[in-house]
Amino acid sequence: MKGVILAGGTGTRLYPLTRLINKHLLPVGNSPMITYGIEQLKLAGISDILLVISKQSAGLYTDFLGSGSTMGINLTYKIQEEAGGIGEALELARGFIAPGERFVVLLGDNLFLDPLKPYAEKFQRQPAGTARILLKKVSDPGRYGVPVFDQDHPKLISFIEEKPQQPKSDYCVTGIYMYDDRVFEHIAATNPSDRGELEITDVNNLYAMEGKLEYDILRNWWTDAGTFDSLLEASRRMKRFKR
Ligand code: DAU
Repeated sequence: MKGVILAGGTGTRLYPLTRLINKHLLPVGNSPMITYGIEQLKLAGISDILLVISKQSAGLYTDFLGSGSTMGINLTYKIQEEAGGIGEALELARGFIAPGERFVVLLGDNLFLDPLKPYAEKFQRQPAGTARILLKKVSDPGRYGVPVFDQDHPKLISFIEEKPQQPKSDYCVTGIYMYDDRVFEHIAATNPSDRGELEITDVNNLYAMEGKLEYDILRNWWTDAGTFDSLLEASRRMKRFKR
């Protein structure tokens, strides 16, 4: 299995910090944010990793991570020229993923303590062309993608609403996704949203509509460190992250 970490985007909610440096290089605990996703993939036995970055701070990524050899991984880089959405960033993994190959995608600002391995193993047992996403119970689901569960098939999600005003569940879709190369067909079938981005929720909804979107629920702490409050909290919590 391969890994893809999406670390493009503009990080506007963290201005002015992210005017100086890309969000995923900001300090969290004692390391730059990006290292936690890499460590998580490594702990799951995934060492072939594509990092999608923006132009901002591109040199700092290579200064810090190089080929990945010092971390015991093999890194490939792709530049996302403009922040055209998570779907657009993921599209850049086409070519890195071989036909029929399965992979784990992490949003670079998602920090969590649960090991990925058991979830990746479940995904490996799913039929080809299906997907698996990880959810987390949260107090403020309206800030995220929110799943609507399939009443007839408890393993499946029937729909995801992106940042709904009236969330239909207490869960959010985290930035942890598992796909095979069929995801590129689905990305190609989506159109830019009102905010001009290719939305990962639209991609996941194509799987959901076919009854092919399974899920697990994270048990331990998770955040997306895209705001000042969550960044502070992440610094405190990630001290407990065991490498
Ligand atoms: O964190 C989980 C949430 O992430 C999900 O619940 C939502 O369904 C999903 O849409 C996403 O929402 P956000 O509004 O938090 O996404 P954001 O624009 O903050 O982007 C999150 C990460 O995705 C960011 O750290 C880097 C990557 N990204 C984002 C964009 C827009 C890219 O690599 N390129 C991009 O163009």
